Amino acid sequence: MRKIVLALFAVLILMNGAIANDGKKLNLLPLPVKVNVKGGAFKLDKDCQIVANEGLVKEAQKFVKQIKPALGYELGIVEGQTTNFGILLQYDNDLKSKYGKESYQLNIGNDLVKISVGGEEGAFYAFQTIRQLLPTKIYSRVKLPGETWEMSCAEILDYPRFEWRGYMLDVSRTFCDADYVKHTLDIMAEHKMNVFHWHLVDNNGWRIEIKKYPWLTDVGAWRMQPGYPQRGDTTRYGGYYTQEDIREIVAYAKDRHITILPEIDIPGHSCALIYAMPEFACKNANKPEYIFNFKDFPQRGKPFQKHEGTNAVCAGNDDVFPFFEGIVEELVDLFPCEYIHIGGDEVKKEWWEACPDCQKRMKDEHLESSDELQAYFIKRLEKIINKHGKYLMGWDEILEGGITKSSTIMSWRGNRGAIAAIENGQKTVVASNRGYYFQKDQTDNPLHPKKWPGMMTLKMAYEYQPIPTNLPKEKLDLVLGIQSALWTPFTNKPDLWDLAVYPRNFALCETAWIPVGEKNWEEFQNRVLNHQLRLAYEGVAYWREESVKVGSWNAKEVNRADKISIDISKQLSQAGKYLVVIDHTKGNAGLNIQNVSFVKDGKPVALDYHFGSTEEGKDLDRMYFIDLQYLDKGAQYELQIDAHSFNGDDCQGDVYLFQP
Ligand code: ACM
Ligand code: ZN
Repeated sequence: MRKIVLALFAVLILMNGAIANDGKKLNLLPLPVKVNVKGGAFKLDKDCQIVANEGLVKEAQKFVKQIKPALGYELGIVEGQTTNFGILLQYDNDLKSKYGKESYQLNIGNDLVKISVGGEEGAFYAFQTIRQLLPTKIYSRVKLPGETWEMSCAEILDYPRFEWRGYMLDVSRTFCDADYVKHTLDIMAEHKMNVFHWHLVDNNGWRIEIKKYPWLTDVGAWRMQPGYPQRGDTTRYGGYYTQEDIREIVAYAKDRHITILPEIDIPGHSCALIYAMPEFACKNANKPEYIFNFKDFPQRGKPFQKHEGTNAVCAGNDDVFPFFEGIVEELVDLFPCEYIHIGGDEVKKEWWEACPDCQKRMKDEHLESSDELQAYFIKRLEKIINKHGKYLMGWDEILEGGITKSSTIMSWRGNRGAIAAIENGQKTVVASNRGYYFQKDQTDNPLHPKKWPGMMTLKMAYEYQPIPTNLPKEKLDLVLGIQSALWTPFTNKPDLWDLAVYPRNFALCETAWIPVGEKNWEEFQNRVLNHQLRLAYEGVAYWREESVKVGSWNAKEVNRADKISIDISKQLSQAGKYLVVIDHTKGNAGLNIQNVSFVKDGKPVALDYHFGSTEEGKDLDRMYFIDLQYLDKGAQYELQIDAHSFNGDDCQGDVYLFQP
């Protein structure tokens, strides 16, 4: 009987846990720890003023700036301790000592929103939650007159599960400009993510200016355009961030409570480095010139990350270490992050095994294997990094061959690196390719752009358990947190990156934030559908499954008009980034596509001009991203596509629209 009572009690607690969190009803994401909705609503208008404790005024200013575009006005802010109306933002030492500086508590009444915070971070996150509590349109980038900005009265208590809630972007395979990095930071911050891991260096391009070694970027930042060699495009491709860019981005991130973790991947993944500085190649190594030599490029059109076992700098060359120290000196000056990530993954050791200098090093240092040579190399890097006041972080391969306990392990091959690290007493971040590698396929929808092999659906990402929760506390405490990654060899433009990352990063941020045992896939899906509308207003190109066929085309008619025109007035639901796919269904000819636009009352209002094509069994960039910043419900909208067939005019197909 006692057992039954206990079991019933347990069930009640579980049910209570599932029902009590009203954050589900309110579509909050990530879900706060505790939400209790009360009757009534708080109305935000021009007269609403924020009273903020000294030290929190800056956080209030950020919120005011975030919502100003939709409101069309700025809320007033005064420094102070108390008020009975509007918004009160105050420190709460009790909260800080219990739940840390990222914690916050909201008490929303009819006249007063009281925000208590553990620290500035908590204030920033409280405001992100308030933004989500307001109508979706608060995310609009343009003023929406006539809206009422109300939120439900509620009590909320919130703090994160993990201190490290990261996202890694590979800007080596594909480069992006500083504005896209800032956009990424904006969206991360809204989701209470706080580490941006910048994969700045890899085989395919060196993307950070190092003043001491200008040729790293003069040479290593450029290669042949990977996109369309079959179409004869042999233009130089690449780019890099100047130190000025980096300082600006680091400050931008700091403003959003995001730390930027820089990665210099070494000794492997170093073809760009070796091409720029061939003196660091092993003796007798065939240098990886073909990636960078645009005139003579035997791999044209093939994936450009294949190197047949040749990607490592020489581990027997003593000059490598002072060279690396020169880089570290500049990194320390640029990045406040306490870690420097040195990669250390997938080191191809064939060169080392054939190199007299590497072999001599092994003999001199009594190293039994090339794994031990790698560990020797990493330990020397660690000494340099420690000397400059930072800690070394590396991918889980650095565990091989023996490594110091002071290094921190980023586990990418599932979580086995993390488990090994904590067994070893080392700190770790779980950045698993089993849960959080978002360049993998997310759907079998044939309209989705082509990507890497492998499947990682939103559900898989959401349900992935980064670390067994039944480990002893002192081991779990070594898990700093979790991180997702986007590797970019097959997605050649930032709109596609957003499409790959959202909504899957919602799964990551929620796992990183909410208490263990609170996740529920069925319920999460509903919240995602609502939450996506917020991202639409911001112009984020997220993936969604549902599309509508808005029209069909036939090459003969298309050629006569040089255009496809479709009335879509009835299809448009809200402002946001629409996806348009032009699909080929029949015929031997193919269709070239360019300048896909929304035309409002005869005037173009949004455009994606890139070149694409569709033909039997072969498509090239045939998804278009149309950013409609404002939807005028009374107007007439037409979808216009510049198009013309090739290889004759025997083909036809359909046009699909993905709405927010
Ligand atoms: C990795 O995916 N090579 C870290
Ligand atoms: Zn060597």
